[in-house]
Amino acid sequence: MMLEDYPIEELQKAIDSASEISSSEEILEIAKAREKNSKTKENYLFTRDDLRFATPDIVADYRAKRLKCRCILDIGCGVGLQSIAFAKTCDKVIGVDIDERKIRYAKINASIADVKNIEFFHLDALSDETLFHAKEADIIFCDTERPTSQEHRKLDDVRPSPLSIVERFSGLTEDIAIEVPPFLDDIPMDCEKEYLSVDHRLNRLTIYFGNLRKEKLCAVSLPNEETLASSVTKKTITRSSVKRFLHEVDTSIIRAGLDSELALSTGTSIYVKKKRSLLLTSDEMIDNPFIKDSYRVLCVTNEENIKEELKRHDAEKVILRADVDPKDYWTIRKKYEVDLIGKKMIHLFINDGELVLSEKI
Ligand SMILES: C[S@@+](CC[C@H](N)C(=O)[O-])C[C@H]1O[C@@H](n2cnc3c(N)ncnc32)[C@H](O)[C@@H]1O
Repeated sequence: MMLEDYPIEELQKAIDSASEISSSEEILEIAKAREKNSKTKENYLFTRDDLRFATPDIVADYRAKRLKCRCILDIGCGVGLQSIAFAKTCDKVIGVDIDERKIRYAKINASIADVKNIEFFHLDALSDETLFHAKEADIIFCDTERPTSQEHRKLDDVRPSPLSIVERFSGLTEDIAIEVPPFLDDIPMDCEKEYLSVDHRLNRLTIYFGNLRKEKLCAVSLPNEETLASSVTKKTITRSSVKRFLHEVDTSIIRAGLDSELALSTGTSIYVKKKRSLLLTSDEMIDNPFIKDSYRVLCVTNEENIKEELKRHDAEKVILRADVDPKDYWTIRKKYEVDLIGKKMIHLFINDGELVLSEKI
């Protein structure tokens, strides 16, 4: 889309808050990014790329509460969304970023937010100047830049390097928190790992050191801020056959590997446990912030009897809840749906040849 084709109201909004931004390309980019924005309520300046990596308000506010202190150093502050949240809980915030344009935007964003207790500097994380600013800070926070490809999941691919951050600043304070990609396979550091989800989808992984470290491993579900930590004496829950209810679990629990802890705390059993999915089962209905969706089990059947059972339960649509190749999804679904004349939407869980018909609660 060319600048002249862009809705004039959107451009006007971008121009109004960007008096220091002169190029039409930059204004157009800001307007396009705002159109995509679901991370913040404010009319901040950012490009689409900035927005992709920016911290959503809900995460920034939660973290600002957890890291409340007198003075915090925010390394890799980007366009400043997390710094602005810190400014509401800390007396002073120092934000540094290696990208000069982002620092320019961060300063404007702080004035849009009307916060006056942040100083932004265009600096490398590991420079002497950043070390100088760190002397004033009680807590060092660093939001790292992650590789865009999902193939890269190694700590070495993250910038600035978490290992260098800890090495560089731990002589000043051990109270360091670093955000790293949630799908990192191996973090060879002695720290707390906090997996955070928003609306049951894994969103962030933050590692905490020093006095900030409270647990070894924990999951936090936003917006309700429910927390579940790993137990010291790990009890492994054995798998069970399906009971009257099935429960799909928040991905922060799955990624943190806290399945037994959640089963114990909710009085449920594990029905399916795979790398990317976890289904709990119980005889009583449960209500827990880490439960994404619950289903009432209608019957357990097999391929031979499935059509008859679907008809008996008045099925019209059959939502597949199984590990199927996306390209085969509709072929399999249509196979179950053909000839159905009922009215109900059935959720079909398929596990090792066992077919569980259920209704979403
Ligand atoms: C995920 S973004 C930060 C987003 C930010 N927290 C926000 O809410 O907008 C990571 C930032 O790290 C910065 N960065 C990468 N390497 C750096 C380095 N060596 N020193 C300082 N900043 C760096 C990038 O420029 C980028 O802005």
